[in-house]
Amino acid sequence: MRKFGIGMVGYGGIGRVHAMAYRAIPFYYGLPAETINIVGVATSKAETAEKAAREIGCEMWTGDFHDLLKRDDIDVIDCCTPNYLHEEIIIAAAQAGKHIYCEKPLSMNVAEGQRIVQAAAQAGIKAQMTFNYRFFPAILRARQLIDEGFLGNIFSFRGRYYRSSYIDANKPTTWRLRKDVSGGGALFDLGSHILDLIYALLGEFGSVQATLDTLIKERPTAAGSSEKIAVDVDDIALMHVRLANNTLGLVEISRMGTGSANDFVVEIFGDKGAIRFDITNPGRLEVYDTRDSDNPTGGMRGLRTLETGGRYDGQKAPDWTMTPDFVRTHAECQYQFLKAIDEDRAPSPDFADGLHIQAVMEAALRSSEQGRWVSVGEVLT
Ligand SMILES: NC(=O)c1ccc[n+]([C@@H]2O[C@H](COP(=O)([O-])OP(=O)(O)OC[C@H]3O[C@@H](n4cnc5c(N)ncnc54)[C@H](O)[C@@H]3O)[C@@H](O)[C@H]2O)c1
Repeated sequence: MRKFGIGMVGYGGIGRVHAMAYRAIPFYYGLPAETINIVGVATSKAETAEKAAREIGCEMWTGDFHDLLKRDDIDVIDCCTPNYLHEEIIIAAAQAGKHIYCEKPLSMNVAEGQRIVQAAAQAGIKAQMTFNYRFFPAILRARQLIDEGFLGNIFSFRGRYYRSSYIDANKPTTWRLRKDVSGGGALFDLGSHILDLIYALLGEFGSVQATLDTLIKERPTAAGSSEKIAVDVDDIALMHVRLANNTLGLVEISRMGTGSANDFVVEIFGDKGAIRFDITNPGRLEVYDTRDSDNPTGGMRGLRTLETGGRYDGQKAPDWTMTPDFVRTHAECQYQFLKAIDEDRAPSPDFADGLHIQAVMEAALRSSEQGRWVSVGEVLT
């Protein structure tokens, strides 16, 4: 693989994960260490950028991301900022001819997403979303099984992403609780992941009927402060969905799931079989095959567990028996992007995929406001 210079924009919770994942890729795939070089980092302030650069070990830092765009040794801009900045950063990076890797959700709304997709296409650069949950080997195996027709005709599906990150009413506000910075609440933050996974496995969404709610209506402006600010995004989103092919499903999203540290489950039911992925068991895919005999006394019938482990094509270490984790999925998502650039082919998931998920989420917001089913096509026009 050719050498890549990366410019990171944003080094908060997930920027740090992106940096450690880039570092790990050469070890996973037996590549020279210099294949991936984080050249520089931009944050909101020069002081925090300098601290980030020291942690990463990179040579330049800046409080103005445009400085990264001027450098010839940076090929890829990696956008890890709060959502309201994605459009500005992506469009500037595309116009500077940089390839772009962007965190989910793509944008604040569909209109922004459409401008982003257009700018990336016009610039002729390669662009990929960070939808890292697609890159568990269990999910890669689920995609194969579905493509091979293992499930037969699909009856329905259900997806759940629950976290408990905001159950404390005294937790101060963050950018994730402000619509003008995040675009949406749990739906955008967690929903983008679970909706994308269903999309990756089963195809495009057609319409949604959603109910969103804000369970804690105001929060302290800062830790220990008695001053409060209203929360104007959702904490929970419950969705009935129909895919474009008419398959019906249920998607539940909440960051108020007491006891659910990170509860991410997808189940798909077909007339020949079923599959089930649970992130708390990330090296396993559960499958049920109606073709298994049920005689005598149950035969081989029942949910079975496939050892998907850490099976990544071409991985040198660790061996496949080692359970993959969150950082490994980020490394794989990044690696597949860099390979797509190297081999001059279309990356996946791309910004058009990000826009589709944006449209599903916008349809959900409209559905909840208006109390009716909303088609994805309606919000794209
Ligand atoms: N894929 C995942 O699993 C995952 C997990 C967490 C967050 N995310 C996404 O990643 C993005 C960032 O989330 P986070 O939790 O890391 O946020 P964060 O608040 O922890 O960090 C945000 C970073 O952006 C920087 N920033 C703010 N304004 C900037 C500007 N004008 N120029 C340059 N940098 C600027 C901040 O300095 C900070 O370093 C969001 O889009 C979020 O949805 C994805």
